[in-house]
Amino acid sequence: MRYFAEAESLLAWYDTHARDLPWRISPAARAAGAHPDPYRIWLSEVMLQQTTVAAVKSYFLRFTTLWPTVADLAAAEDAQVMGEWAGLGYYARARNLLKCARVVVRDHGGRFPDTLDGLRALPGIGPYTAAAIAAIAHDQPHVVVDGNVERVMARLYDIHTPLPTAKRALTEAAARLTPRLRPGDYAQAVMDLGATICTPKSPACGLCPWRAPCAARAAGTAQHLPRKLPK
Ligand code: ADE
Repeated sequence: MRYFAEAESLLAWYDTHARDLPWRISPAARAAGAHPDPYRIWLSEVMLQQTTVAAVKSYFLRFTTLWPTVADLAAAEDAQVMGEWAGLGYYARARNLLKCARVVVRDHGGRFPDTLDGLRALPGIGPYTAAAIAAIAHDQPHVVVDGNVERVMARLYDIHTPLPTAKRALTEAAARLTPRLRPGDYAQAVMDLGATICTPKSPACGLCPWRAPCAARAAGTAQHLPRKLPK
């Protein structure tokens, strides 16, 4: 099976330029047959809900050292978990984190569900986080759209409709490009592209794997997209 050319060029770029993030497994480990650990993907996605990658890294390492599995976290003292969360903010996330770990252990034998509905039924997991976990941890072709992905899609197709009106069209664009093979890598690759190349200001179009198909680059509009309605 062939990918669309866009997915193919993006995945080739990701194979050599993926950010080295502590919740990811290395390309070498993956080539040797390793799979992402749903517990680590879930934990990283909850931490990333309202916090930057740079701030999350050290917290993620600390949590996974203290509690390497969901069963370890479920058995932790509430006060210790809340204490370790201090500094990340949005403390409802930490309370839901513990609730979720305990439900996964009590009701799911310590294994995270692998369906969107199963994931969404868990405390602290909304539609975005469920899609991210299903895509990244279980390699399912769900569309994961954050601000980075909206920006990349608005530029690739030179979409001038402002956000939030454009949300639906941008999500459809991201969905159309999602390959059936390696959808989890594709989801992370679009995020990485938005974070490192297709940045809000001064995008590095010369280094972009999508420089050829990018309509905004051709039109010279990349740095003005996405447009946003005034709040
Ligand atoms: N932001 C949200 N989820 C992310 C992920 N898995 N990788 C990088 N940035 C993210």
